[in-house]
Amino acid sequence: MNISKRSLCIPPSLTRSLFNKAKEYDDVIDLTLGDPDFNTPDDIKEAGIRAIKENKSHYSMNAGIYEARCAVSERVKNVWNVDCCPDKNVILTVGGMEALYLALLSLVDAEDEVILFAPYYVNYMHMVRMCGGKPVVIDCYDIISGLSIDAKKLESVITEKTVAIIINSPNNPTGDIIGYESLKSISEIANKYDLTVISDEVYRTLIYDGLKHHSILELDNMAERTILIDSLSKEFCMTGWRLGFACGPEEVISSMIKLQENVAACANVPAQYALIQAYMSNGDNNMITKFCQRRDCLVKILSEVTAICFNVPKGTFYMFVDISRLNIDSEEFAYRLLEKKHIAVVPGKAYGESYGRYIRIAFTKDIEQIKKAAYGIRDFISELIDE
Ligand SMILES: Cc1ncc(COP(=O)(O)O)c(C=O)c1O
Repeated sequence: MNISKRSLCIPPSLTRSLFNKAKEYDDVIDLTLGDPDFNTPDDIKEAGIRAIKENKSHYSMNAGIYEARCAVSERVKNVWNVDCCPDKNVILTVGGMEALYLALLSLVDAEDEVILFAPYYVNYMHMVRMCGGKPVVIDCYDIISGLSIDAKKLESVITEKTVAIIINSPNNPTGDIIGYESLKSISEIANKYDLTVISDEVYRTLIYDGLKHHSILELDNMAERTILIDSLSKEFCMTGWRLGFACGPEEVISSMIKLQENVAACANVPAQYALIQAYMSNGDNNMITKFCQRRDCLVKILSEVTAICFNVPKGTFYMFVDISRLNIDSEEFAYRLLEKKHIAVVPGKAYGESYGRYIRIAFTKDIEQIKKAAYGIRDFISELIDE
């Protein structure tokens, strides 16, 4: 059978390989996927169950049910202060992922270029390729500067083929946030070169130490050229419900709605009813406190390991650890850690070629397991050094 070149050029996910391998061990502490261990709050579950019992389980409009789009538009106004018409500017999607994919399908023609900042959420790279486009990668993270966008570097990669820039803050995999000055530079360049910005803010509410999340939508003229991507997955622990949304200019949203018919027809309908309930409740502050305790526990134990370094995550539930002093490739590190200590993490090379000397730890397990994993990583490193 002929498998398309488009499919063949997409490598299998390294994150999933580690996740699948981790399943071979009964006692594994799996810190690979970005899937919170907390459950969906009861009131949201009830709303989904009610929708199923009331037979609200048929196809919806391609854009999603009107009431859910109204709930999104109200939220967008309240949180981002952007006017968002439920009929023109919103589409409900199968997770944030489908929102990203439909946005790229709507923007990218063959050979068009999309700028990504590395380390990146690896699906951006593959989705751009799946749309026939060319990802153009700018490295923008190191331990000293954190995540910082160099305006000159960004401007230097823009060509006639550039159509869009994808940004993600709070950021997977670094746990860092893109500062206001960097957002300003990106917005100035996007305005100057008439580029669309896809702003992936699925971790917006997972932010620590009283820090404020800034969105590029706060900046001049950005609402007219930004596609905002958000999701219920992380904020409400609903990864398996598969519901997200995009909000943006009518031109692009109407294209996404049209394409939705050919991709999924509509997002999960009971989940759309659950969204209405989710946006009426205030989220779970207890969850943020718990993530913060886990982060602090990891930071405390791993800070004593002098052979590695990292920045304290400001948001998300990821820690990105520089293992370059150990002189071992991150993939080898991850597989050996799994075999020896039954702890699963993701090699940094999954997030960009330049990050092969990092690992990503997702603190998505309870604090006892996080503590055990941190001590396991510490011991593994000291055994590596002694080899
Ligand atoms: C940066 C980023 N964006 C988007 C997503 C998509 O999440 P979902 O499709 O579950 O909403 C993820 C999932 O891990 C992510 O890390």
